[in-house]
Amino acid sequence: MGFLQNIFNRKKKEAIPFQDFGALITDIHSHLIPGIDDGSKSLDDSISLILGLQSLGYKKLITTPHVMFDYYRNDKEKILSGLKRLKEALVLHKIDMEVEAAAEYFLDDHFEELIKTKELLTFGKKMVLFELSFFEEPKLLDQIIFNLQLEGYQPVLAHPERYPYWHRSFSNYEKLIDKGVIFQANLGSFSGNYGPEVMKTAEKLVENNWISILGSDTHHMMHIQLFQTLKTNPVIQRLLNEDSLLNSKL
Ligand SMILES: [Fe+2]
Repeated sequence: MGFLQNIFNRKKKEAIPFQDFGALITDIHSHLIPGIDDGSKSLDDSISLILGLQSLGYKKLITTPHVMFDYYRNDKEKILSGLKRLKEALVLHKIDMEVEAAAEYFLDDHFEELIKTKELLTFGKKMVLFELSFFEEPKLLDQIIFNLQLEGYQPVLAHPERYPYWHRSFSNYEKLIDKGVIFQANLGSFSGNYGPEVMKTAEKLVENNWISILGSDTHHMMHIQLFQTLKTNPVIQRLLNEDSLLNSKL
């Protein structure tokens, strides 16, 4: 009797319409340090982007400049000194936003070297954000993941939905999940910003419960405007309601 009563009394979890991304607390993945990659071009740019992210509800930003040997030769010192300048500007403008820096490492030979020398910038519990080529499937990915884990790092794959060579072979994603890789999806992927295939893949990754972190991957103000339109997105709403994302713990 008690059991039946429980079933009838059990309330279906209500879908709470969300006003903004405040429930996430933290954004992990953006390009807010001026002049060191293809994101913010100036301190003024950075301030506008940070105010934009604040208006979306974020309380903390872990910004992740590109580290890509052939294009953006950023290192720990360059990123951390950029972060210091950015934080000083926030104080000057009286903007209440917590900002930290890690990096978005492109999987190249240089990244392999940094793993060996333990020179990586991390967030959370030794998490390392890394990205792959958009054009060709990476070689030695398994080895690199193994090396990262051997050094005590937690690999976090940036925007897995954006790699076209895996769109029709989901077993590749499953293998990475089985190895303990964490997936970070981009907000913009759910709007079709990167094309219909990317959107479909992002939704399928959510269906499989493989997305643990949502990132804005903010580069410019157009991204902020795009995120405003995502406040009614059903897939993002589902992710926020399920409360399974790691963002708020970072
Ligand atoms: Fe990025």
